Amino acid sequence: MAHPLEQLREDALAQIASAPDERALEAVRVKFLGRGGSVTRWSDNMKSLPKEEKPIVGRLLNEIRTAVTAAIETRAENFRAEKESATLANIDISLPGTSHERGAIHPLTQMLDRSIAVFRRMGFALAEGPDIETEWHCFDALNTPADHPARNEQDTFYLQDGRLLRTHTSTVQIRTMESAPPPIRVIAPGAAYRRDEVDATHGAQFHQIEGLYVDEKVSVANLKGTLEFFLRELFGADTAVRFRPHYFPFTEPSFEIDVKSSALKSGEQWVEVCGCGMVHPAVFEAVNRSRRDNAYDPEKWTGFAFGLGMDRLAMILFDIPDIRLFAQNDLRFLRQFA
Ligand code: DAH
Repeated sequence: MAHPLEQLREDALAQIASAPDERALEAVRVKFLGRGGSVTRWSDNMKSLPKEEKPIVGRLLNEIRTAVTAAIETRAENFRAEKESATLANIDISLPGTSHERGAIHPLTQMLDRSIAVFRRMGFALAEGPDIETEWHCFDALNTPADHPARNEQDTFYLQDGRLLRTHTSTVQIRTMESAPPPIRVIAPGAAYRRDEVDATHGAQFHQIEGLYVDEKVSVANLKGTLEFFLRELFGADTAVRFRPHYFPFTEPSFEIDVKSSALKSGEQWVEVCGCGMVHPAVFEAVNRSRRDNAYDPEKWTGFAFGLGMDRLAMILFDIPDIRLFAQNDLRFLRQFA
């Protein structure tokens, strides 16, 4: 005859199989395996069983506990899976996904990054200075006399305390030399500000890369070689580069550089891209006064400097007709450079 425990097992498994939901299943579990449950009660009663029955009942109880626990687990898992597929059934997987706009680098930043990469290959380090400057760094130390037209309020944004928004990045030349002795080989990318009439080629804010190279025996040949290499890396190997004599207070001699390339939209036209020259001895002397030493002895050191107009370069390279487009955040414009 079957042991009463066999019957118990059958009942338990049948009730598990027919439990309609998780709550009912939990009730079955408590009924058989809970504290006062049938299986538990049998275990508690083991003591009172005759000696020879104990091992038989013990083994049966273990089997039953394992079988019932496993059956409950399986049934619970079924309930969970059913719930999950019910949730998924409500999702329409044929609907289009949520798309995310991809950002891109601004054309001016692309231009800066490309330019910086070329100068870094030639061993130039990055330098920087503040946009709000003193007259000393922007003009006096750069050998620009008090009555120079650039200092005029019509050209320069002055702050009430006498400081100003730098009109060029040449300020960083002075700051770099004030803080370190020669030799120097740096570029300083950054913004500059002028009270220009805003039009297609002039903005109140624009961008430059300043360059400064000071060492023993630096010559115009080094200046030409460096800038020609840079411009051909940017605009292509067959770019023509022209140095035109010019005047800047802080360089002597001074030049403006024009480029011409059939690869560019500007085609056969010379376009001006850069001012440059050999650092004026008066600039070294101003720096020495500020440093209170003779580190930049103009008898020993020479240097070249240059200032590249980044907006201008980007306009030429990307064939952009109006400088104002850079700051208008018009996605129809910006997307073309993504
Ligand atoms: N600072 C000049 C400008 O903004 C550009 C320039 C000319 C920079 C000659 C230089 C230089 O370093 O040597 O127009």
